Amino acid sequence: MNILVLNGPNLNLLGKREPEVYGSKTLDVILADLTGYANSQNVMLFHFQSNAEHELIDRIQSILIEGAASNAPIDAIIINPAAFTHTSVALRDALLAVNLPFIEVHLSNVHKRESFRHHSYFSDIAQGVIVGLGEQGYRFALDALITTLQNKSK
Ligand code: DQA
Repeated sequence: MNILVLNGPNLNLLGKREPEVYGSKTLDVILADLTGYANSQNVMLFHFQSNAEHELIDRIQSILIEGAASNAPIDAIIINPAAFTHTSVALRDALLAVNLPFIEVHLSNVHKRESFRHHSYFSDIAQGVIVGLGEQGYRFALDALITTLQNKSK
């Protein structure tokens, strides 16, 4: 099983960025823990973070493009689109194009925050949405996708 983890803008600053909202762990530490867990479950984790909308779109599209540099067959996606959650029709369309199960994760509880964070361009097409549980959200998303993929292959 190959699962792609996508993180959007400013998540490269985790650990430094508003730690009271997003926690004190860096993205590298979160991903190292997640990768260790994934490997114990026989899952290969691929990760991509970008501050640029088009780079995230290109990474998603590469799943469909034979011979693309980062092309490994991807079975499912975990995405924290960060601020693009609230703005990006283009990222939504890219996810619709690849038509893979995906789970939307937010470290903070966006519903407790400013009203502009309450709307997501992804939630209605996601398999599930996890908000407000910090880095654990990625782990829960991974577990859920593993179960989904196992059920599919039965
Ligand atoms: C976020 C919530 C978004 O509203 C915000 O723009 C982020 C991070 C989260 O993980 O809580 O950058 O996606």
